[in-house]
Amino acid sequence: MCGIVGYVGTGKATPVILDGLARLEYRGYDSAGIAVIEDGVLKVRRRAGRLAQLVESLKLEPIEGSVGIGHTRWATHGAPSEKNSHPHCDCRGDIAVVHNGIIENYQELKNQLEARGHVFKSETDTEVVAHLLEEEFTQGAPSLVEAARRALPKAKGAYALGLLRRQEPGVLVAARLGSPLIVGLGSGENYVASDVPAILSRTRNIVYLNDGEVIELTPTAWKVTDLNGVPREHPVSRIEWSVDAAEKGGFEKFMLKEIHEQPRVIRETLMGRISADKKSIQLKDMNLSVEELKSLKKMFIVSCGTAFHAGYVGKYLLEHFTNLPVEVDLASEFRYRSPKMDKDTVIFTVTQSGETADTLASVRAAKAKGCKVISICNVVGSSIARESHGVIYTNAGPEIGVASTKAYTAQLTAFCLFTIYYGKLTGSIPDEKAADMIRQLEGIPDKVDEILKDQAHIKALATKYAQAPSWLYLGRKFNFPTALEGALKNKEITYTHAEGFAAGEMKHGPIALIHKEMPILCIAPRGETYEKMTSNIREVGARAGRIICVATRGDADIAGISEDVIYVPETPEEFSPILCVVPLQLLAYYCARARGCDIDKPRNLAKSVTVE
Ligand code: G6P
Repeated sequence: MCGIVGYVGTGKATPVILDGLARLEYRGYDSAGIAVIEDGVLKVRRRAGRLAQLVESLKLEPIEGSVGIGHTRWATHGAPSEKNSHPHCDCRGDIAVVHNGIIENYQELKNQLEARGHVFKSETDTEVVAHLLEEEFTQGAPSLVEAARRALPKAKGAYALGLLRRQEPGVLVAARLGSPLIVGLGSGENYVASDVPAILSRTRNIVYLNDGEVIELTPTAWKVTDLNGVPREHPVSRIEWSVDAAEKGGFEKFMLKEIHEQPRVIRETLMGRISADKKSIQLKDMNLSVEELKSLKKMFIVSCGTAFHAGYVGKYLLEHFTNLPVEVDLASEFRYRSPKMDKDTVIFTVTQSGETADTLASVRAAKAKGCKVISICNVVGSSIARESHGVIYTNAGPEIGVASTKAYTAQLTAFCLFTIYYGKLTGSIPDEKAADMIRQLEGIPDKVDEILKDQAHIKALATKYAQAPSWLYLGRKFNFPTALEGALKNKEITYTHAEGFAAGEMKHGPIALIHKEMPILCIAPRGETYEKMTSNIREVGARAGRIICVATRGDADIAGISEDVIYVPETPEEFSPILCVVPLQLLAYYCARARGCDIDKPRNLAKSVTVE
């Protein structure tokens, strides 16, 4: 989720690259760097912190040349420090690499490269690429582009790469597999970038690279091939977006963009965590020994807002598949209710920002009592990530819309991973079942994609229901938290009253609220509680509520008891919260749009709540 900008031309590379990086900076990065070939010397400058630090240093001590690459980093492997900032170089300082994505097998590659004498200077996965390229030159590669074609098949995972080599000062090479990368064509100069806004002020002629392609750019020419060197044809697209629209990837709001990023984000959260034989889960930043994990007696999941709902799904998952007793807590209440905890207790926090004050205070309180702390967190180097014993990072990238969407489904994915990992470790999930769960989990991103492709119906429903003054959301078991999250999305961005309930609780109060104008969103995918859920829906229907169901594709019966149905693809019920929440995000989004609300910055809300 980093930002890349590259330039090759006859002008000055540094200002073009810095301008491009600045246009990507709205996403909020943690470090930045640049490499330029100046008079036959590869010069690299990197700084931790905001881009301004790098700009300042370049003002004091400029580097200039007409080919260069730059990078703003969103840390995934290694803390956001100067040594981990990109570009990364080979041992001789001839090759510079900027990277967005994750090299899944980097540890294995790094071990091999170190055994052959390569010296690494960072903790990143990226640096292996520079050393792999270096080896290709010792084995006779004739050019940077050819070295890239030979080296890249060794790297598993996802990458968008920008590459420079001191000995080829008129050439910029880039490659793509699973991470975004575009090419901009100028007049006498060409560019690469991870996103259109970085170069939109310089050109509107864009080439979209496909996975498995490598491009060699000079000031006046470009050539795309696959990794075997077979040429690939590409049309040149003309971009008509404004800069503002381009920042949002052509979407009208960040929230909508982030909803659409979910298939990729889920894929990236799974990446590197599934073993090559697809039978087990690897969680490398857990930092708890197998003995420590096996000796756990109790878990508290502690978090706020949307992350609390993810934690709630986590409780259902862990209790369903393992023998660990799990309680779920709002961080703002946790410390004040005297929970009983000791060294055999694990506190599991869930946090997008890693900075939420109540969650951080809960981490500290739990550590003071000798508990282990594991966090599901989206920001490497954040306070909670640093203070936890172990972390499972969600690779959601920066989330800008205040209403959380992609961070939530990434958190759910992380809980699925941990459940399989822990269940297998403690023997409550047999090996065969774990392999089946992994297979099903890998299918989730495509299913989310299917939901996103079929949103015309959800838009139409939003037009129909947007002006309703009050909503209820009902779910059971794994999807009780989905009801809470659906209602939260609705109230956050439409300013409409919306409440989520466990469907079985209806008769204990909420049913008194129902009247003929009230939309009641019922989350009813196939699963253990399906029949119970449909009888709850009938009870609501008998009170004249307007029922909208989220149901499994192919369930024709549900149409008979609902006014409207939104179908999601079939999936094991334990993974259905990841699918069922997506239509609820979209419905809230389109209702907010119909009501003219400020969707990305809802009134009174903050993205990160750093006060108690
Ligand atoms: C705020 C945000 C929510 C988020 C919550 C917890 O309320 O608006 O989207 O779920 O804080 O934040 P965290 O960063 O800890 O996940």
